Amino acid sequence: MKKIIWITSIIATIVILASYTVSERHQPDEMTIEKSTPVQQILKQLGEEDPNHVLNKSMNKASAAIGEALFTKGFAKKEGGKRGIQSKHFVCTSCHNVEKEDPDLRYADPQARLEYAAENKIPFLQGTTMYGIVDRRGFYDGDYYLKYGENVKKANNDLREAIQLCAIECAQGKELEDWELESILAYLWTIGLKMEDLSLSESDWKRIQSDIKNAKKHKELATFIKSFYLKASPATFLKPPKDRVTGYNMKGNPKNGKLVYDVSCKHCHEDTRYSFFNLDDNPATFKHLDKNFSKNNRYSSYFLIRDGTYPYYGKRAYMPRYTKEKLSDQQIEDLRAYVEQMAR
Ligand code: HEC
Ligand code: HEC
Repeated sequence: MKKIIWITSIIATIVILASYTVSERHQPDEMTIEKSTPVQQILKQLGEEDPNHVLNKSMNKASAAIGEALFTKGFAKKEGGKRGIQSKHFVCTSCHNVEKEDPDLRYADPQARLEYAAENKIPFLQGTTMYGIVDRRGFYDGDYYLKYGENVKKANNDLREAIQLCAIECAQGKELEDWELESILAYLWTIGLKMEDLSLSESDWKRIQSDIKNAKKHKELATFIKSFYLKASPATFLKPPKDRVTGYNMKGNPKNGKLVYDVSCKHCHEDTRYSFFNLDDNPATFKHLDKNFSKNNRYSSYFLIRDGTYPYYGKRAYMPRYTKEKLSDQQIEDLRAYVEQMAR
């Protein structure tokens, strides 16, 4: 019996030692880069400074799994008990995707995104995707200061503040505790950009692979890699058209309008998912939308889309506005053309 124990432990030691030397040998002498390598990892190796949202490792109650549950379900268990739902009205995924949503990350083009979303079966929303948020360096960019005022200043270059602001203001929920906030951040770090997400040509890729071996070129290479995605999500507030009858004076394409309706509006309104107001494919629904489109009141979709709705007391779900980067004037006319067609 003793002999067997001896032999097994000797074998185990050999296996452990061997695996050590193997992994030692696999340690790269020079930097290697693969398509699946996170962009932030490469930038760090190229000498870029850490962003201020690197994880606080001392917060050991936090985890990416808790963060994912909070983000997608609105609550997470904490050492046996759960802390109640973050928001009664929304979850973060009501308004934000967690997948790549732009075919080319250099552009915030709503038509390219709409087609990409439809193709990949993800919704098309007012909030920007959280995929790659850890790669961004500015938050609530552009016109959002018009909506959130002073509050936005702290959030402009601080991802933790940006998460907290949205949990309270966008999701109309309670303030996140430190461990919850750090958990969401840990989850967001798992959905950072990878090299394969960038629209690199074959020769761009070759250049990266060769320049990475040359320390003198690292600074320039970091700049080159960063030119393949936006550092912040641009936001331009637009106004509804002055005359609701003539609208934006563009001919709408109902086929594209159907995409907007199905991929965007229905995400929140189908089966009253995140709103009391139901949208479906019944002619009566389209008649109601059609009738209101041309009206000069807050029930006109022109107003709802460009201004959003304000949360009322006791009924605090609200509809976030669509900025120019989230829905173009043309796409609104496409939606109107579809609504008109279906109301007939
Ligand atoms: C009702 C809609 C809604 C909900 C719910 C919501 N958000 Fe947002 N969020 C927005 C909008 C709109 C913006 C500003 C536009 C944008 O994302 O670029 C935003 C911005 C953000 C930003 C900054 C994004 C950037 O690139 O500028 C972060 C981070 C964020 N939200 C996190 C969260 C988290 C975490 C939750 C859940 C606790 C949440 N949001 C829930 C609508 C929402
Ligand atoms: C992120 C979720 C979300 C998306 C996407 C969304 N809405 Fe809304 N919408 C709401 C909420 C919330 C309200 C406020 C009513 C309530 O409290 O349920 C609302 C209100 C409305 C109303 C007014 C209802 C009433 O009579 O008071 C209309 C009409 C409407 N939305 C149409 C649209 C259209 C058209 C689209 C697509 C372009 C759209 N919504 C996209 C969440 C959303």
